[in-house]
Amino acid sequence: MLLHLQTWAECEAYLKRSTAIIVPIGSTEQHGPNGLIGTDAICAEYISHRVGEQADAMVGPTIGIGMAQHHLAFAGSITMRPTTMIAYVRDYVRSLAVHGFDRFYFINGHGGTVATLGAAFNELYAEQSLDTTGILRRVRCEQRNWYETTGVKAISAKEYTGREGSHATPSEVAVTQFIHPDAIKRVGMEPVGPRPRRYTDSRDLRSLHPDGRIGSDPSLATPEVGKRLVAAAVGDLVPDFKAFVAAA
Ligand code: NI
Repeated sequence: MLLHLQTWAECEAYLKRSTAIIVPIGSTEQHGPNGLIGTDAICAEYISHRVGEQADAMVGPTIGIGMAQHHLAFAGSITMRPTTMIAYVRDYVRSLAVHGFDRFYFINGHGGTVATLGAAFNELYAEQSLDTTGILRRVRCEQRNWYETTGVKAISAKEYTGREGSHATPSEVAVTQFIHPDAIKRVGMEPVGPRPRRYTDSRDLRSLHPDGRIGSDPSLATPEVGKRLVAAAVGDLVPDFKAFVAAA
Protein backbone atom coordinates (compact mmCIF):
# COMPACT_ATOMS: atom_id res chain seq x y z
CA MET A 1 0.00 0.00 0.00
CA LEU A 2 1.17 3.46 -0.86
CA LEU A 3 1.25 6.11 1.85
CA HIS A 4 0.10 8.87 -0.49
CA LEU A 5 -3.04 6.89 -1.39
CA GLN A 6 -4.11 6.32 2.24
CA THR A 7 -6.18 8.50 4.54
CA TRP A 8 -4.72 9.45 7.91
CA ALA A 9 -7.16 7.02 9.55
CA GLU A 10 -5.98 4.18 7.32
CA CYS A 11 -2.38 5.05 8.16
CA GLU A 12 -3.22 5.03 11.85
CA ALA A 13 -4.84 1.60 11.46
CA TYR A 14 -1.72 0.28 9.64
CA LEU A 15 0.47 1.47 12.51
CA LYS A 16 -1.49 -0.74 14.89
CA ARG A 17 -0.22 -3.82 13.04
CA SER A 18 3.14 -2.62 11.64
CA THR A 19 5.61 0.18 12.23
CA ALA A 20 7.67 -0.56 9.11
CA ILE A 21 7.83 1.44 5.90
CA ILE A 22 9.65 0.99 2.61
CA VAL A 23 11.19 4.14 1.11
CA PRO A 24 12.11 4.19 -2.59
CA ILE A 25 15.13 6.41 -3.22
CA GLY A 26 16.61 7.16 -6.63
CA SER A 27 18.05 10.00 -8.62
CA THR A 28 17.27 12.29 -11.55
CA GLU A 29 20.38 12.33 -13.71
CA GLN A 30 21.70 11.54 -17.17
CA HIS A 31 21.92 7.86 -17.97
CA GLY A 32 24.00 7.71 -21.13
CA PRO A 33 22.89 7.68 -24.77
CA ASN A 34 19.68 5.63 -24.40
CA GLY A 35 18.95 5.78 -20.66
CA LEU A 36 16.15 7.89 -19.21
CA ILE A 37 17.02 10.75 -16.86
CA GLY A 38 14.59 9.26 -14.34
CA THR A 39 16.12 5.76 -14.49
CA ASP A 40 17.23 5.46 -10.85
CA ALA A 41 13.97 6.81 -9.43
CA ILE A 42 11.82 4.77 -11.84
CA CYS A 43 13.58 1.49 -10.96
CA ALA A 44 13.60 2.09 -7.19
CA GLU A 45 9.96 3.15 -7.14
CA TYR A 46 8.63 0.27 -9.25
CA ILE A 47 10.58 -2.39 -7.35
CA SER A 48 9.61 -0.84 -3.98
CA HIS A 49 5.93 -0.87 -4.92
CA ARG A 50 6.11 -4.56 -5.84
CA VAL A 51 7.96 -5.39 -2.58
CA GLY A 52 5.29 -3.46 -0.67
CA GLU A 53 2.51 -5.44 -2.36
CA GLN A 54 4.11 -8.82 -1.73
CA ALA A 55 5.10 -8.03 1.86
CA ASP A 56 1.78 -6.24 2.62
CA ALA A 57 3.78 -3.21 3.77
CA MET A 58 3.45 0.56 3.53
CA VAL A 59 5.57 2.32 0.90
CA GLY A 60 6.44 6.00 1.39
CA PRO A 61 6.76 8.69 -1.28
CA THR A 62 9.72 8.21 -3.63
CA ILE A 63 12.75 10.36 -3.01
CA GLY A 64 13.35 11.05 -6.68
CA ILE A 65 16.34 13.38 -6.48
CA GLY A 66 19.63 12.14 -5.09
CA MET A 67 23.26 13.08 -4.69
CA ALA A 68 24.23 13.41 -8.36
CA GLN A 69 26.61 16.36 -8.50
CA HIS A 70 28.95 14.33 -10.72
CA HIS A 71 26.32 14.20 -13.50
CA LEU A 72 25.56 17.91 -13.55
CA ALA A 73 27.58 18.59 -16.72
CA PHE A 74 24.87 16.69 -18.64
CA ALA A 75 21.57 18.43 -19.40
CA GLY A 76 18.59 17.59 -17.21
CA SER A 77 20.51 16.23 -14.25
CA ILE A 78 19.46 17.48 -10.80
CA THR A 79 21.39 17.07 -7.56
CA MET A 80 20.97 17.56 -3.87
CA ARG A 81 24.17 18.46 -2.06
CA PRO A 82 25.11 15.78 0.47
CA THR A 83 24.18 18.17 3.30
CA THR A 84 20.77 18.88 1.70
CA MET A 85 20.08 15.20 1.25
CA ILE A 86 21.03 14.36 4.83
CA ALA A 87 18.63 17.08 6.04
CA TYR A 88 15.88 15.83 3.69
CA VAL A 89 16.19 12.19 4.77
CA ARG A 90 16.36 13.28 8.41
CA ASP A 91 13.11 15.24 8.18
CA TYR A 92 11.40 12.45 6.18
CA VAL A 93 12.30 9.84 8.82
CA ARG A 94 11.63 12.11 11.81
CA SER A 95 8.20 13.07 10.50
CA LEU A 96 7.14 9.44 10.21
CA ALA A 97 8.79 8.60 13.55
CA VAL A 98 6.45 11.12 15.18
CA HIS A 99 3.56 8.84 14.13
CA GLY A 100 5.25 5.68 15.36
CA PHE A 101 7.11 4.33 12.33
CA ASP A 102 10.44 2.93 13.48
CA ARG A 103 11.65 0.56 10.73
CA PHE A 104 12.77 2.35 7.58
CA TYR A 105 13.79 0.14 4.68
CA PHE A 106 15.23 2.21 1.84
CA ILE A 107 15.33 0.56 -1.58
CA ASN A 108 17.96 2.48 -3.48
CA GLY A 109 18.59 2.81 -7.21
CA HIS A 110 21.63 5.08 -7.32
CA GLY A 111 25.20 4.27 -6.33
CA GLY A 112 26.05 7.95 -5.79
CA THR A 113 23.53 8.11 -2.96
CA VAL A 114 24.87 5.22 -0.87
CA ALA A 115 27.46 7.13 1.16
CA THR A 116 25.20 10.15 1.77
CA LEU A 117 22.24 7.98 2.81
CA GLY A 118 24.54 6.15 5.22
CA ALA A 119 25.63 9.53 6.61
CA ALA A 120 21.96 10.50 7.03
CA PHE A 121 21.36 7.32 9.03
CA ASN A 122 24.34 8.16 11.25
CA GLU A 123 23.00 11.69 11.70
CA LEU A 124 19.72 10.18 12.93
CA TYR A 125 21.50 7.71 15.19
CA ALA A 126 23.59 10.55 16.61
CA GLU A 127 20.39 12.41 17.42
CA GLN A 128 19.07 9.22 18.96
CA SER A 129 22.13 9.01 21.19
CA LEU A 130 21.71 12.67 22.11
CA ASP A 131 17.93 12.31 22.31
CA THR A 132 15.80 14.40 24.62
CA THR A 133 12.38 13.75 23.06
CA GLY A 134 12.21 9.96 22.78
CA ILE A 135 10.82 10.07 19.22
CA LEU A 136 13.84 8.47 17.64
CA ARG A 137 14.64 5.98 20.38
CA ARG A 138 13.69 2.87 18.41
CA VAL A 139 14.34 4.03 14.85
CA ARG A 140 16.35 1.74 12.63
CA CYS A 141 17.21 2.37 9.00
CA GLU A 142 18.48 -0.01 6.34
CA GLN A 143 19.40 0.51 2.71
CA ARG A 144 19.47 -2.06 -0.03
CA ASN A 145 20.57 -1.45 -3.60
CA TRP A 146 18.21 -3.38 -5.88
CA TYR A 147 20.95 -3.74 -8.51
CA GLU A 148 23.21 -5.56 -6.05
CA THR A 149 20.74 -8.25 -5.00
CA THR A 150 21.88 -11.82 -5.61
CA GLY A 151 19.28 -12.59 -8.26
CA VAL A 152 19.96 -9.41 -10.21
CA LYS A 153 23.72 -9.95 -10.18
CA ALA A 154 23.27 -13.51 -11.47
CA ILE A 155 21.12 -12.36 -14.42
CA SER A 156 23.44 -9.45 -15.17
CA ALA A 157 26.51 -11.71 -15.12
CA LYS A 158 24.86 -14.09 -17.58
CA GLU A 159 23.28 -11.55 -19.95
CA TYR A 160 25.82 -8.73 -19.86
CA THR A 161 29.17 -10.38 -19.10
CA GLY A 162 31.85 -7.69 -18.87
CA ARG A 163 29.47 -5.00 -20.22
CA GLU A 164 27.42 -4.13 -17.14
CA GLY A 165 29.73 -1.27 -16.10
CA SER A 166 28.80 0.98 -13.21
CA HIS A 167 26.58 3.70 -14.65
CA ALA A 168 23.87 3.64 -17.33
CA THR A 169 24.08 -0.12 -17.06
CA PRO A 170 22.17 -2.44 -19.38
CA SER A 171 20.41 -3.84 -16.31
CA GLU A 172 18.88 -0.57 -15.15
CA VAL A 173 18.06 0.52 -18.69
CA ALA A 174 16.37 -2.89 -19.25
CA VAL A 175 14.23 -2.38 -16.13
CA THR A 176 13.06 1.05 -17.35
CA GLN A 177 12.31 -0.47 -20.79
CA PHE A 178 10.09 -3.06 -19.09
CA ILE A 179 8.30 -0.40 -16.99
CA HIS A 180 8.01 2.20 -19.78
CA PRO A 181 8.04 0.41 -23.14
CA ASP A 182 6.75 3.57 -24.83
CA ALA A 183 9.92 5.43 -23.81
CA ILE A 184 12.48 2.98 -25.25
CA LYS A 185 15.17 4.92 -27.13
CA ARG A 186 17.02 3.49 -30.09
CA VAL A 187 20.41 5.20 -30.10
CA GLY A 188 23.63 3.98 -31.72
CA MET A 189 26.71 4.00 -29.52
CA GLU A 190 30.39 3.23 -29.70
CA PRO A 191 31.85 0.16 -27.98
CA VAL A 192 32.74 0.82 -24.37
CA GLY A 193 36.36 1.73 -23.67
CA PRO A 194 38.28 0.70 -20.56
CA ARG A 195 37.29 2.45 -17.33
CA PRO A 196 39.75 5.25 -16.57
CA ARG A 197 40.56 6.69 -13.15
CA ARG A 198 37.95 7.75 -10.59
CA TYR A 199 36.22 11.05 -11.39
CA THR A 200 35.68 14.02 -9.07
CA ASP A 201 33.23 16.73 -10.14
CA SER A 202 30.78 16.93 -13.05
CA ARG A 203 33.20 18.43 -15.58
CA ASP A 204 35.75 15.76 -14.73
CA LEU A 205 33.19 13.01 -15.25
CA ARG A 206 32.09 14.37 -18.60
CA SER A 207 35.68 14.66 -19.83
CA LEU A 208 36.32 11.02 -18.87
CA HIS A 209 32.95 9.67 -20.04
CA PRO A 210 31.77 11.92 -22.89
CA ASP A 211 28.47 10.11 -23.59
CA GLY A 212 27.62 9.57 -19.93
CA ARG A 213 28.16 5.81 -19.70
CA ILE A 214 30.69 4.40 -17.28
CA GLY A 215 32.05 1.09 -18.53
CA SER A 216 28.62 -0.12 -19.67
CA ASP A 217 26.92 -1.17 -22.89
CA PRO A 218 23.24 -0.27 -22.43
CA SER A 219 22.55 -1.02 -26.11
CA LEU A 220 22.18 -4.62 -24.86
CA ALA A 221 19.13 -3.72 -22.75
CA THR A 222 15.78 -5.35 -23.53
CA PRO A 223 12.42 -5.18 -21.74
CA GLU A 224 12.32 -8.97 -21.52
CA VAL A 225 15.45 -9.08 -19.37
CA GLY A 226 14.14 -6.06 -17.47
CA LYS A 227 11.07 -8.03 -16.44
CA ARG A 228 13.24 -10.86 -15.11
CA LEU A 229 15.49 -8.40 -13.25
CA VAL A 230 12.48 -6.87 -11.49
CA ALA A 231 11.20 -10.30 -10.46
CA ALA A 232 14.66 -11.27 -9.19
CA ALA A 233 15.09 -8.05 -7.18
CA VAL A 234 11.62 -8.31 -5.64
CA GLY A 235 12.18 -12.00 -4.87
CA ASP A 236 15.35 -11.18 -2.91
CA LEU A 237 14.11 -8.01 -1.23
CA VAL A 238 10.79 -9.31 0.18
CA PRO A 239 12.37 -11.86 2.58
CA ASP A 240 15.18 -9.44 3.39
CA PHE A 241 12.64 -6.74 4.30
CA LYS A 242 10.67 -9.19 6.44
CA ALA A 243 13.84 -10.26 8.26
CA PHE A 244 14.73 -6.60 8.89
CA VAL A 245 11.28 -5.94 10.34
CA ALA A 246 11.32 -9.09 12.48
CA ALA A 247 14.76 -8.36 13.98
CA ALA A 248 14.72 -6.93 17.50
NI1 NI B 1 21.46 4.61 -12.46
